[in-house]
Amino acid sequence: MQVHRSIQSLRAALGGASHVGFAPTMGNLHAGHVSLMRTLRSQAKTVVASVFVNRTQFGPNEDFDAYPRTFEADCAALEAAGVNHLFAPNEAELYPTPQQYFVEPAPAHDRLLEGALRPGHFRGVATVVSKLFNIVQPDVAAFGKKDYQQLMVIRNMVREMNFPITIIGCEIVRADDGLALSSRNGYLSATERAEAPRLQQTLQQLVTEIHAGRQDYTTLESEACTVLAANGWQPDYVTVRSQADLQPASAGEKLVVLAAARLGRTRLIDNIEID
Ligand code: PAJ
Repeated sequence: MQVHRSIQSLRAALGGASHVGFAPTMGNLHAGHVSLMRTLRSQAKTVVASVFVNRTQFGPNEDFDAYPRTFEADCAALEAAGVNHLFAPNEAELYPTPQQYFVEPAPAHDRLLEGALRPGHFRGVATVVSKLFNIVQPDVAAFGKKDYQQLMVIRNMVREMNFPITIIGCEIVRADDGLALSSRNGYLSATERAEAPRLQQTLQQLVTEIHAGRQDYTTLESEACTVLAANGWQPDYVTVRSQADLQPASAGEKLVVLAAARLGRTRLIDNIEID
């Protein structure tokens, strides 16, 4: 695997490559990230990953400084997953001057769920992913369903901005006890880690109720929040939405249940699609 710190070096190495697959990350890689690389390995000739902790998608009171940086281990994981090129720029390389042009997600996709709670987050994501797409120029790019709204924003951005890139949505990789893998799981204390699978269990319970025919989503959502709160969580939302646009669920649509909740100082998100 070649490691590139500069755009120039990456471009020189990729020049003329066909069937390029790309997965952007913020590092501190786990099996969820690796699954994106393996998916690309099977679909592309040349696999490119990036590691860049993107300041512009973090809010002023979020964990940009604390975000775990584990570059050596990340390189080993990417190499083992068959990645050919790692693009790992510093901030001066990607933002040589303060960014003044931004990719603004549609308000209908931004002003709900994560976007509502983290103003400017998806603008930061859409902008850096656009920059990375322009630098890498992949044919396919892989994103996890763990960040469900992010995947929706990227899919719509690619369509509306005519990026010639196929977006692949990859399934959520979980620990044995059901907790969705996340770089932020490392912030949890041992007691919190033992409690953390309840988020997924609560969503699973909701899915079971919906499969059993319940359609009183508002009641189901508030019951789920009550369960979490009773166990020490501070829920931001538990909600039943349409898979396509994440608007409140209505009859006949494919649904997804999503949750975000704080456990101690750690904020976790998860979701389950309903077939
Ligand atoms: P990061 O949180 O590092 O995630 C990188 C990619 O890995 C995303 O597409 C995310 O959805 C996926 N991923 C994370 N945990 C996963 C899991 N348990 N199962 C499957 N996929 C998982 O998302 C970002 O970085 C950034 O916003 C980025 C797109 C790199 C832009 O800065």
